[in-house]
This record gives sequence, structure tokens and C-alpha cells, in this order.
Amino acid sequence: MQENFRNRFHKEATDFFFCPGRVNLIGEHIDYNGGKVMPCAISLGTFLAVAKNTDKKLRFQCLNFPETAELHLQSSYARTGKEWFNYPLGAIHQLLQEDHTISGLDMLFYGNLPIGAGLSSSASIEVLTMFAIKELFGLTISNTDIALLGKKVENEFIGVNSGIMDQFAVAMGQKDKAILLNCDTLEYEYLPFEIGDYVLAIINSNKQRTLADSKYNERFMQCGAALKLLKTELSATHLCDIDSVTFQKHKHLINDPVLEKRALHVITENERVKQAKDALQNRELNTFGELMYASHQSLKELYEVSGKELDTIVDFCKTYGDCIGARMTGAGFGGCAIALVRKDSFDDFSEKLISYYQERVGYQPEIFASVIGDGVKSL
Ligand code: GLA
Repeated sequence: MQENFRNRFHKEATDFFFCPGRVNLIGEHIDYNGGKVMPCAISLGTFLAVAKNTDKKLRFQCLNFPETAELHLQSSYARTGKEWFNYPLGAIHQLLQEDHTISGLDMLFYGNLPIGAGLSSSASIEVLTMFAIKELFGLTISNTDIALLGKKVENEFIGVNSGIMDQFAVAMGQKDKAILLNCDTLEYEYLPFEIGDYVLAIINSNKQRTLADSKYNERFMQCGAALKLLKTELSATHLCDIDSVTFQKHKHLINDPVLEKRALHVITENERVKQAKDALQNRELNTFGELMYASHQSLKELYEVSGKELDTIVDFCKTYGDCIGARMTGAGFGGCAIALVRKDSFDDFSEKLISYYQERVGYQPEIFASVIGDGVKSL
């Protein structure tokens, strides 16, 4: 990064930072419903080389994209189109809103996460930017607060009603650990992700996530609408405050088949996370895998955020003996799936999945064995 930084800014970078991406093991589309989720940080992510400047400018460059930006330092910013630099700009805007003071910065980013593939490249760059600024200017702000501000960037600056999961996972991740996060209270614990003879495969469907943001916001609204109807008789702050037995007794209040399906997914997914925690702690990997399959089925049938590509991956996994569980991960509408595959069979699994997918979808997926890594850090 130093050489690239020098070529572009004609000076040396003084500091280097890294923030990972994440996968979510289970607990999908429930973070914005007050549920519990189980993400972990991965070894792929975003790098930043940075140096302060004295000319009161914010300069953004990235090795992955040709677009660059140079802006005068001011007290607030607004989103300017769809370019990548809106994410770090939004992060800076959010810090300025909290009355943190910064000077000019020259910033060079580089990411090795597949962009827009549901591995949280946006949370990664947001948290990376805020963490770097915290370190450079000695701000008193915790990683949890950084995660919360990152969520604000998405909600207010970018315009997606996403929950806290992604920013929290990339800010707080720990090597070889899954995070069990209560998205209502932000209480969390680390669960050792010990999968013995298995490997966690990440399979990028390579499907473009068209209209993902608007469909995501639609799901968010539908959950709010279902909750409002249930609240006419139940006392609940979030959909995840309701258990499935109570839901069955009161679902007639919803009186809309689509909203009922959405709520049923949320409530049962939240219960699956609790079961998945027990399975992981008791080393019952087969049970964990079954819960992954059940999660996918629910996301496909009830929440309707999967799609042909992700379903093709999971269908293949079900036929493959040495794969004990698989599901889409992240928002869906394309993006990635994860699978638990026996280590010895990983190469064979990959080869067979590629041709199965190619035959049915017409292009190839990308498959890699994931490493569960640390959250954001200085290098
Ligand atoms: C996206 C959002 C998260 C979460 C997932 C679905 O990744 O950013 O907040 O809602 O989708 O679980």
C-alpha cells in the first residue's frame, strides 16, 4: 500500500488499518427486529493507508475503483451519487455530527472482499474509516459506538434501513469466534467456532444484487406493519419479543398472508439462533447444519429473499454427503451462501458444485474456505 500511496499522493502514508468483512452463521433479517444473530468476522476485508494533510482537504482514492474525490473539510456532508467514496464520507460526516474534530486526510483504500456480495464490504469501509480517525486523532469512542455510528451511515446517509449486525461484527470480531449478539440490548458473547473436521465454505453466487436496497427496505417496512397489527393485542417492542406459540395464537390479527409469512420467518429464525447456540456449544455440528438448512428454507419460502442462484447452491449442498448444512448469508437477493463441508472433501465439493451451478445458472460461482478473523485493527 505504501508504494501506491506514494505514487498517488507524493508522500508517505503514516498509518495503516484493516477492517474485515463478515459472514452471518445464522439469524438472518432479524437484527432490525430485535433478534439475536450469530455473525463472525472473516479474514478478507478492507485496508486503509492514510496521512494527515495541512491543506484542509479530504482526499479519497481506492485501488479497486477509478473514481476519486477531493473535498474541502467542512462541518457536514451529504451523499453525492452512488460512488464508493460515499461510505467513508458518510462515516466522516457521522463523526463530525458527534462533534469530533479532524484535520485534512489523504486516504487510500483497497479491498479484497468481493464487492456487493453480501459480505459487508460497506460496513467494512465505514468502520475502517471511523476506527482510523479515532486512532489518528485520539477520539474517545468505543468500537461499539463506532458500530452504532456505522449503522447511522447506512440508515441516514446511504438510505438503507439495515440493522446493527454487520458493523458490530466487523468492529468486534475475534479470531475463531462467532459473536452471539442481542440486537436489542447489544449484549454479546463470543462462542468458540470449533468445527473440527469441517470447513466453513463461502460460495459467492456472482449474482448481481439488483434492487437489493429497495427490497431490503420493503422487508423492513413489512416487519413494522406486522408488528403494529400484533401489538393491538400483544405487548411487544420488536417482532422477536414474540415466541412462535404466542404468534400462532395471534397471527389472525395480521390478516395479510404476505405479512404473516414475513413475521413467521422472523420469529422462527430467532428461535433457531438459540438452538444453534446450544448445538455449537454441545459440539452437535449436524444439528447446527440442519438449522442452517431450515434457515435457508424459511428465507426462501417465507421471507422470499433468496433466488434461483442461492437456491441452486443450497440444493446441491443437500445432495452432497460431506456437506452437513448450508444457507444464504446476509441480505440475500444474490450474494453469498455458506456451507459446512468436510475438510477432506472441500476440493471435490468445489469442483462438483461449480459444474452443477454452471449447468443450471449459466456462469460459475466462486468458492473459498473462510478463516474467522479479528475485527478492525491497526496494522
Ligand atoms: C444486511 C444488513 C444487516 C442484516 C442482514 C440480514 O447485511 O446490513 O443489518 O439485516 O442484511 O440479516
